[in-house]
Amino acid sequence: MHSKYARLDRYLSQKLGIKRGDVRLMLARGRVRVNGVVAVDINQRVGEFDHVVVDGQVLQVREPVYIMMHKPMGVVSATKDEKNKTVIDLLQRSDKNALHIAGRLDFNSTGLLLLTNDGRWSRRLSEPATKVMKWYRVRLQKPVTPDYIAAFAEGMYFSFEDITTLPAELKIVSDYVADVGLMEGRYHQIKRMFGRFQNPVLELHRMAVGNLQLDETLAAGESRELSADELEGI
Ligand code: URA
Repeated sequence: MHSKYARLDRYLSQKLGIKRGDVRLMLARGRVRVNGVVAVDINQRVGEFDHVVVDGQVLQVREPVYIMMHKPMGVVSATKDEKNKTVIDLLQRSDKNALHIAGRLDFNSTGLLLLTNDGRWSRRLSEPATKVMKWYRVRLQKPVTPDYIAAFAEGMYFSFEDITTLPAELKIVSDYVADVGLMEGRYHQIKRMFGRFQNPVLELHRMAVGNLQLDETLAAGESRELSADELEGI
């Protein structure tokens, strides 16, 4: 999903089906407002969540939406699936088909899943450069030992993608349980990292994305919008 930013003259000429020269005249006459302010500059950028009004008529009003879900097991992190229930199917909102997933979880993984219609926000969260750490609690089939810590921190080479994973944090919680912090989200990354130790993952639960913790009052399958503080803090 790409967020759309367009120059104001191009945006208005496409939306209204008029020439760009006519847009200049409109601006000169103060007929256009963007987010409540009279627009004067054809070079102004208009994004998908800007509020655009021409001659008092609303041309575009689209609110960004940010949702946290407690993803249950056995549900696909996808917007459509032929066979299985998707996380979108679990939502009861009229705008649910405009949403996309910011960071998938595997079919049997549980925990914090974010959904939004804001492509810029979801891209920023998933870019390793922004260093937003995602925290997972992992239950394993065999005991986890201290030598795992250095192996996760060093990174592991994945020949299929020809990449080395970024430094990951591993904290031993108890013999069979570890917390893992990742700045990226490669395909089945945690399972593959424990796979290097021939230690199958039995349960995988995302607890947090950056400073945003899963709201433990949400039962599996439930969701709610993020608060302004949560949105700012992430
Ligand atoms: N790593 C995995 O292997 N699975 C997930 O769902 C998330 C991270």
